[in-house]
Amino acid sequence: MSEGDAELEARLAEQEEFEPPESFVEQANVSDPDIYDEFEAEWPDCWEAAAELLDWYEGYDQVLDDSNPPFYKWFTDGKLNVSHNCLDRHLDERGDEAAIEWVGEPVEEENITYTYEELHREVNECAAALEEMGVGEGDVVTMYMPMIPELPIAMLACARIGAPHSVVFAGFSADALATRMNSADSEYLITCDGYYRRGDPLDHLKKANEGLGGVEHDVEGVVVAERLMDGDGFGHDYADNQHAYADLVAEQEGAEVAPVERDAEDMLFLMYTSGTTGKPKGVKHTTAGYLAWATWTSQAVLDIKPEDTYFCSADIGWITGHSYIVYGPLSLGTTTMMYEGTPDYPERDRLWQIIEDYEATQLYTAPTAIRAFMKWGSEFPDRHDLSSLRLLGTVGEPINPRAWKWYYQHIGDEACPVVDTWWQTETGGMMITGLPGIKKMKPGSAGPPLPGLDVRIVDTKGEQVEAGRAGYLTVQKPWPGMLRTLYKNDERFIEEYWQEYSDTDSSDPDDWVYFPEDGAKIDDEGYITVLGRVDDVLNVSGHRLGTMEIESAIVGVEGVAEAAVVGGDHEIKGEAVYAYVILEDGFEGSDEMREEIIEGVEDAIGPIARPEQVVFTPELPKTRSGKIMRRLLEQIANEEELGDTTTLRNPEIVEDIQKQVQDD
Ligand code: WTA
Repeated sequence: MSEGDAELEARLAEQEEFEPPESFVEQANVSDPDIYDEFEAEWPDCWEAAAELLDWYEGYDQVLDDSNPPFYKWFTDGKLNVSHNCLDRHLDERGDEAAIEWVGEPVEEENITYTYEELHREVNECAAALEEMGVGEGDVVTMYMPMIPELPIAMLACARIGAPHSVVFAGFSADALATRMNSADSEYLITCDGYYRRGDPLDHLKKANEGLGGVEHDVEGVVVAERLMDGDGFGHDYADNQHAYADLVAEQEGAEVAPVERDAEDMLFLMYTSGTTGKPKGVKHTTAGYLAWATWTSQAVLDIKPEDTYFCSADIGWITGHSYIVYGPLSLGTTTMMYEGTPDYPERDRLWQIIEDYEATQLYTAPTAIRAFMKWGSEFPDRHDLSSLRLLGTVGEPINPRAWKWYYQHIGDEACPVVDTWWQTETGGMMITGLPGIKKMKPGSAGPPLPGLDVRIVDTKGEQVEAGRAGYLTVQKPWPGMLRTLYKNDERFIEEYWQEYSDTDSSDPDDWVYFPEDGAKIDDEGYITVLGRVDDVLNVSGHRLGTMEIESAIVGVEGVAEAAVVGGDHEIKGEAVYAYVILEDGFEGSDEMREEIIEGVEDAIGPIARPEQVVFTPELPKTRSGKIMRRLLEQIANEEELGDTTTLRNPEIVEDIQKQVQDD
């Protein structure tokens, strides 16, 4: 590091606030600070600003129908189509411009540019093929695909014909796929033969087929996109209901499918996410509110303009990719990048190479990635010209000030605002983050809520806590992008998100409060620092994992009697999975047993849930009433000072476990 850099680093380390760069403010999509007061004064009509960004076949009657909380309806009786909004409406002006820049794994020099014209054609042909296969309006189509172009094409094709999609992250296991298809009664699957990871082909169809084996109803059709190149295939035979994507689409060459008029409140997609119980929750998003939210936040926060080349490094299998690779950016008619591979292959400068090559204007990524970049060192970004970047963003977990400043300095060259955006699968899009052309930034704090949102930090009784004190994050008024319910489970929807702070007997919307299950604190300028989940959900590398899901996977391994899973601090992942396991008599805590447990978790959920440590113990620390003391297990994982152990039924076990963790 040169001396200049060291000085700069020292100065940044001290600095707690950053003004938005002048060069950014001058051109920002939103730069009038009055927006905050105006939106508050005009709520809920302020959200017409979001609806106006969309093309409607028929205008809506009411901005918000809150007559039956918490089942809110937005833009009632409006008619529109998401695929039309993301494609057709841009054809006149942007037909020849890139809609998607797909950057493949570097197995062969093969990147693909899809202009709006081309993407429109592909989506139409895919929509025609799906219809031909029998997919109709309202049928849930599951997609189990990595970052290949067929994924957004299929999503937009489904949106075109009014078939909701349910995308399952490709890294999830066969079991996870089966659970989700069963839960959604989904009779169609779009998947692929395989894909490349760090240059090696992976057999994805094998996993998909295993998953299909666990589906309890008839599956009408399976479409297999063929990503692998000659010689890399795994030689699968296709069953009668399985078709190669290319064949189906070839039969539809030149086909046009008119976008169906969808009601504002019709379901656009389902996305399963982890909750407190072992069963994933099917979060339901609708057509108008969701698209309005993804579009408005893309414009106001990510500052997307049609001429941009915008890069979000998330996977489309998560909500971030849905809202901020596919729907928001395409709705605004910009160029969205899609990168198939990992940031460290073939080298640790891969993202910076892509940004330089494509002159990307924004980068939206996760703190876990930034921590890895930091660890690898600034020499990798330093090799590249990153001056095309105008804005940086993060999402998925809290970002510590050191990582924030590294990002700001080494990637943004102090010329780009950094937006730390708090939101969830359930919120549809961003909720808490400063508008980058208006608000100063405070590293470590996501910032103030977006205009028009009523976010409060409360205590267990629902009273607002003082500035600086930790409390629970709540959203006190509805917003267009919110989930509408959990798929076919209104009761659980209320239990999970509303019950805690609402008067559930009331029909007055003021009595209903949304609880995202995060802890937070607020400062005297209204900046919110999100402290993390307060339920039994871990955040591993920005991915939500339910401890119960992992525990039930472990208990499913032969020889395991009981398991407790907690999160331990991890330098790169943020949190890592720590599993404490009690074995049945006759089983031994051997390396093989440990391997079996790890495999059991990978099979049930996927490699992302892989335990960092498996600790065998004859007992778990329990309270006198028999509850596992998770907090204590967390402290042990983090090798922290332990809290009071005198109320335990079995205090002697603690030292034992502690010793094992430290030895490993
Ligand atoms: C956490 C991802 C702190 C939080 C879009 C939330 C964050 C969960 C941030 C949702 C952030 C997300 N700062 N924590 N900027 N963004 N989280 O559903 O705990 O995968 O509840 O959505 O991630 O994760 P999900």
